[in-house]
Amino acid sequence: MTENLENKINENLEFQEIIHDLTENPAVQEMKKYRQHFSTSCYNHCYLASYYCYNICKALKLDYASAARGAMLHDLFLYDWREKGTRSGLHAFTHGKTAYENASKFFELNKVEKDMIIKHMWPVTIALPKYPQTLILTFVDKYCAIKESFEDIFSEFSIKKVFRYSYIFLALIIFKRK
Ligand SMILES: [Fe+2]
Ligand SMILES: [Fe+2]
Repeated sequence: MTENLENKINENLEFQEIIHDLTENPAVQEMKKYRQHFSTSCYNHCYLASYYCYNICKALKLDYASAARGAMLHDLFLYDWREKGTRSGLHAFTHGKTAYENASKFFELNKVEKDMIIKHMWPVTIALPKYPQTLILTFVDKYCAIKESFEDIFSEFSIKKVFRYSYIFLALIIFKRK
């Protein structure tokens, strides 16, 4: 997530008001410890997905508060999915349910939020989204995953490019002096 986007999200008072009890919760804070896509933590991934769901659902005149809250909790599975032995079953198929079980321990979830968390991996998992907010999250989630991955790959690529041009520049200086 770029600094500009993060500032924009942090300054949206209505959005912050909707999710502040979630983001202040220690279990939700714990998501900062786990990487989701490349260097993006589960927390930042959920925070961005939540903001996009909030905006899209608001524009479509849907219940955007539930959309923001469901999306903020959709990956509350609380383990490192890259490490073997942290869970039973395949992460892609099981983590929606695990996130729901964790979220329901700490928060009163409505039916939209529950559906969003459990079914956000559709169509990888078969159960069909029941609400438009869930369907929106399935697309937003994949969009965020691609965005987060590409941002990291691109920044790595840029760093490599800077190094490469620095070497060429240095080589040219040395060559000219000889
Ligand atoms: Fe997920
Ligand atoms: Fe996700």
